[in-house]
Amino acid sequence: MSKVYVGGVGMIPIGDHWTKSITDLAADAALKTIKAANLQNPEMIVVGNMFSATGAKQEHLGPLVTSELGLEGIPAFKVETACASAAAALNVAYTYVKSGEVDCALAIGVEKMRDLEPSDTTQSLSMAERYEYTSSMGVSFVALNAMLARMYMDKYEVSRDELSYFPVLAHNNAQNTTHAQFRKPIEIANVSRSPEVSNPLTLLDCAPVGDGAAAMLLVNEKKIAEINDEAIEITASVGTTSRFSIFERDDMLEFTATKEATKKALKESNTSIKDIDVIEVHDAFSIVAALSLEAMGFSRSGEACKDACNGIYDKNGKYPSVTFGGLKARGHPVGATGLYQAAEAYLQLSGKAGLNQIENANVAITQNVGAVDTSSYIHVLKGENN
Ligand code: COA
Repeated sequence: MSKVYVGGVGMIPIGDHWTKSITDLAADAALKTIKAANLQNPEMIVVGNMFSATGAKQEHLGPLVTSELGLEGIPAFKVETACASAAAALNVAYTYVKSGEVDCALAIGVEKMRDLEPSDTTQSLSMAERYEYTSSMGVSFVALNAMLARMYMDKYEVSRDELSYFPVLAHNNAQNTTHAQFRKPIEIANVSRSPEVSNPLTLLDCAPVGDGAAAMLLVNEKKIAEINDEAIEITASVGTTSRFSIFERDDMLEFTATKEATKKALKESNTSIKDIDVIEVHDAFSIVAALSLEAMGFSRSGEACKDACNGIYDKNGKYPSVTFGGLKARGHPVGATGLYQAAEAYLQLSGKAGLNQIENANVAITQNVGAVDTSSYIHVLKGENN
């Protein structure tokens, strides 16, 4: 088995890209990455994407993007696991390099969401849930998460304002993120009193809808020595699944996929939770940030919002989280998100995070989930001081 290193990363700003096709977005992120790594020839390409068929009327993304890059002649395909598609793509690229099949693999995540009418976006997102039990009944993705938020607030006596801290943290951290969709700081009252989308979740509890693409080049020991000064290693890439529908689960407030994947990833990395310097958590909704951080072990059950309000997830806190703004403010172009998270973790560990830099960051963990923790992917990255 080979060790796996990050050769380079590339991200495009998230937002409205009316003049670019999904192929253009993916190719832009890939070219930035290839340029950053100064390496022209990945031996395979995997594209993470959730709903190009409805969002861009396009499938067969792997060969399409590969051809656009002038790299035809290598294996290329798309993987889809809802909002975790990009982390799943990273997992596939990682496995190709780790197994020794290739020296160099390129993972790209891309999504074009803004071309759709809002109701069609909601419908496309709902495809991550089981149709006959949810979207056919008019239950949106936001509504499912709102139900969890209500249960959580009742069970653990969490106030509306306590839940509101996660978006505040995200927006604060995004102020200097050039690739972020929203860079304006907000306060607790803005979140609690923004328009209600699905009770108790408000507009500012929700990740926005945006177009985006991010990529990461993965290489083995031989290649990293040729291309980069710093060697940021991916020490674990673990994906798993839970019971598909939330109502079939023993405890709807427990994210078992994230819990199991985190345990396994930390073990594979020979890392304790106390060693983590940076967390890129899947904060698609305030409630998802809370349940994820609890499942990963950073907060006890029912305490993540209170911990957040006490500053432990702040930039200068014990476990800095969403250091570039997270899904909430950097943005969540669903099938691309996992690679934004991984690229940001890489920037932190290589000291290239600019004004977002967490001092002495050496170990980072990323968590990217599909649907309500139905799929979960955990990546652990380590800098050179490990
Ligand atoms: N956070 C902050 N601001 C947001 C926002 C968000 N999530 N969504 C929209 N806005 C802003 C817009 O920029 C716009 O501001 P402006 O009037 O100053 O230009 C305003 O709010 C209205 O935007 P609009 O696009 O009309 O919002 P919308 O009502 O169509 O969509 C949501 C709002 C919350 C319904 C939409 O963002 C959404 O569905 N989010 C969840 C996406 C999701 O489920 N992702 C998968 C999760 S795993």
